[in-house]
Amino acid sequence: MAKTFKRYLITSALPYANGPVHIGHLAGVYIPSDIYARYQRLRGRDVVWVCGSDEHGVPITIKARKEGVTPQQIVDRYHTLIGESFRRLGISFDIYSRTTSPTHARTASEFFRTLYDAGKFIERTTEQYYDQEADTFLADRYIVGTCPRCGNERAYGDQCEQCGSTLSPDELIDPHSAVSGSVPVKRETKHWYLPLDQYEGFLREWILDGHKEWKSNVYGQCKSWLDGGLQPRAVSRDLDWGIPVPVEGAEGKVLYVWFDAPIGYISATKDLTPEWERYWKDPETKMVHFIGKDNIVFHCIVFPAMLRAHGGYILPDNVPANEFLNLEGEKISTSRNWAVWLHEYLDEFPGKEDVLRYVLCANAPESKDNDFTWKDFQARNNNELVAVLGNFVNRALVLTHKYFDGSTPALGTLTDYDRLTLEELRSIRPSLEANIENYRFREALRDAMNYARIGNKYLADTEPWKVVKTDPERVRTILNVALQITADLSVAIEPFLPFTAEKIRRMLAVESLGWERLGEAELLPAGHRIGEPELLFEKIEDEAVEAQLRKLSETKAANADAESKQQADPQKDTISFEDFQRMDIRVSTILEAQRVAKTKKLLRLTVDTGIDRREIVSGIAEHYTPEELVGKQVLVLVNLAPRELKGILSQGMILMAEDASGKLRLLQPDETTANGAVVG
Ligand code: 2FM
Ligand code: ZN
Repeated sequence: MAKTFKRYLITSALPYANGPVHIGHLAGVYIPSDIYARYQRLRGRDVVWVCGSDEHGVPITIKARKEGVTPQQIVDRYHTLIGESFRRLGISFDIYSRTTSPTHARTASEFFRTLYDAGKFIERTTEQYYDQEADTFLADRYIVGTCPRCGNERAYGDQCEQCGSTLSPDELIDPHSAVSGSVPVKRETKHWYLPLDQYEGFLREWILDGHKEWKSNVYGQCKSWLDGGLQPRAVSRDLDWGIPVPVEGAEGKVLYVWFDAPIGYISATKDLTPEWERYWKDPETKMVHFIGKDNIVFHCIVFPAMLRAHGGYILPDNVPANEFLNLEGEKISTSRNWAVWLHEYLDEFPGKEDVLRYVLCANAPESKDNDFTWKDFQARNNNELVAVLGNFVNRALVLTHKYFDGSTPALGTLTDYDRLTLEELRSIRPSLEANIENYRFREALRDAMNYARIGNKYLADTEPWKVVKTDPERVRTILNVALQITADLSVAIEPFLPFTAEKIRRMLAVESLGWERLGEAELLPAGHRIGEPELLFEKIEDEAVEAQLRKLSETKAANADAESKQQADPQKDTISFEDFQRMDIRVSTILEAQRVAKTKKLLRLTVDTGIDRREIVSGIAEHYTPEELVGKQVLVLVNLAPRELKGILSQGMILMAEDASGKLRLLQPDETTANGAVVG
């Protein structure tokens, strides 16, 4: 038997205020939590839903440095943009706070001090990377280097974004400073650590034994952290942006962003209500953390250990973390601008807030990573929202106006088919509720849409537009049923599509009906006058999709350009014109090509240089097949001293371009040219 709770405390990951919010954030965290919060409120439950901007941490200071502004200016800009975009999408937080607020500084400071005074931390002096040029310690993202797991050359001191590994600065190969680019030295520094190893027993019992119902991705990640053995974690950093460590002798040190950020949930609740302790300290409160999968360890292991160390706080009942959403087959990336930004969507698709909410919920990465494509966005809008939901509601209303002058007709005798339909409708609610309560929002949305699907089918099967000619009485019943379904829909879709629910209510001329009436027989009494029908959704045309795809290809081109500029080798030493003239380069044609036995890279080429026919051994076998090469014109450095390779005398060099990834491409005249033509 599931435990019953008196109230709900819902938290959603605090987005970093160093960039706008994109569809990945929405699908992973904010859409599911909005559905959950709206649903619980509709059920009349006591709900507090908190969120806010995460305004500390190294990425914010890096961005500020890059732009030549202060970190405060950066967070002010994005806090406003993010908060406003959420509001426009109908994300209904009870408070959207921020971690630079005075309440938060006080709360996080006191939290640290309580743990400090109770001797819950260990102090350690260790050697950490220090940038002598910039005169600063290099915490987290201030240090970059090669990832020891996947070889990504731009991994950070805390994480590799390519393979997702959590890293420590010491693991990086060829570390260098992100501030000055210089190679850092090691210097001693003192920090406070939360000895997570001491909480292993408690965490094992609480999660592994006590929360087997958690989503398998969440449970699995916790288990693997716990099985790997927990280590003490530093909760302070040498930085000048953050909440000062509130103890003597800690000048220049601030709380680690992942120590202060989750406390942000507490400070937000404090700013919302003086009753905040009821939500945080009474075991009859159900706390649920909505997050993305990269936040699991902090919400399931670190924060609970902090709360436990502090004492007096409840722990989350569930942490329904989602996987990641990709965009057009590629990982969403803020730095590469590979994203659909919420504020841009809202500007470019005015009035289509619910379309985005619908698509992101229908396609949410609940159990595995998923892909957002603009084609799918269009198809779901046109085939589901327009053709099913919009079409059904429109027909029910238009026909009521046409045949009954906008007055709800009375229900007459039911046919077997009517009864079957009503029965099917009644079975939706329990499933819908169970799905939302258990964080299966995709399924829940399908349930809610089933009212429209069944309604559509009902109208198609009963054909009131034909029956009206022979049996107008029967049409009364049909449209009564259709209107009741429409009223059901206005309730069932409210958590998912609040703007549409509101429109339907306006069209039905009803106030909010309340969740408890969902499925009731007579939501609209006979004789109730409905309002004017309006279109709920409009078709999304190919042009709109193409414009978005064009925008993405432009991003891709800009990225490729920036990357090639960034990665090009520096220019070599200057040479004289005479030096250049000493090279004899000729247009030549490849006549034969074959692999050199027992090598992977080498091809033996016979070329016509216009002067002679000769053999050249070239290291391009991994880039071209012999068949591709025969007949191609190329440029050959013909006066290069011959040398023997694998027993073959190579007389010259085929000129090629090599990019930063090591890819080789032949250089060719742009149209066929006589062999032997001189290049220079
Ligand atoms: O991953 C992130 O975007 C973090 N800013 C989430 C913080 S959640 C919480 F603990 F505040
Ligand atoms: Zn990696």
